[in-house]
Amino acid sequence: MARAGMMVLPVAALALAACGGAGDSGGAQVKPPGVEVPERYRQGQELFRTSCVGCHGRKGVGTGQGPPLLHPYYDPNKHGDERLVRVIQEGTEQHLWEFGDMPPQPHMDGEKAREVLAYIRWLQRQVDIY
Ligand code: HEC
Repeated sequence: MARAGMMVLPVAALALAACGGAGDSGGAQVKPPGVEVPERYRQGQELFRTSCVGCHGRKGVGTGQGPPLLHPYYDPNKHGDERLVRVIQEGTEQHLWEFGDMPPQPHMDGEKAREVLAYIRWLQRQVDIY
């Protein structure tokens, strides 16, 4: 499985490079990873499917209701884990996009928010965001 994952990376890197330096909207075109999700991230994947896909799309590619999370904005150096765990629980006001606010997700208690974030970070690594 790990080998299949490595074959996906150059494609994703090219997709990002093709969008030029500006970075805006680049994330929406990122091809999501086609590899199987490792056991470690399955719980986060399940939580993501039940609570987040409606706005953030399958594998975090975004929808008309919410932004792609496979986007360089959300690289851990720009949006660190502590902030994202807080946003996942408490929501956030609109600030980077035009989708409106993200509502709080109160059922995402500490552990669940961390599990779902671990899954998001895994997705991001598959498409070379960091
Ligand atoms: C009702 C739609 C909606 C749902 C449901 C939703 N989000 Fe969001 N989310 C948004 C919007 C809209 C933004 C972008 C706000 C902005 O930056 O303008 C956002 C932003 C984010 C961000 C970036 C936060 C930041 O610091 O800028 C993360 C991470 C995130 N969402 C994760 C999640 C996770 C995980 C779930 C499921 C538990 C989830 N969201 C559920 C709409 C949603």
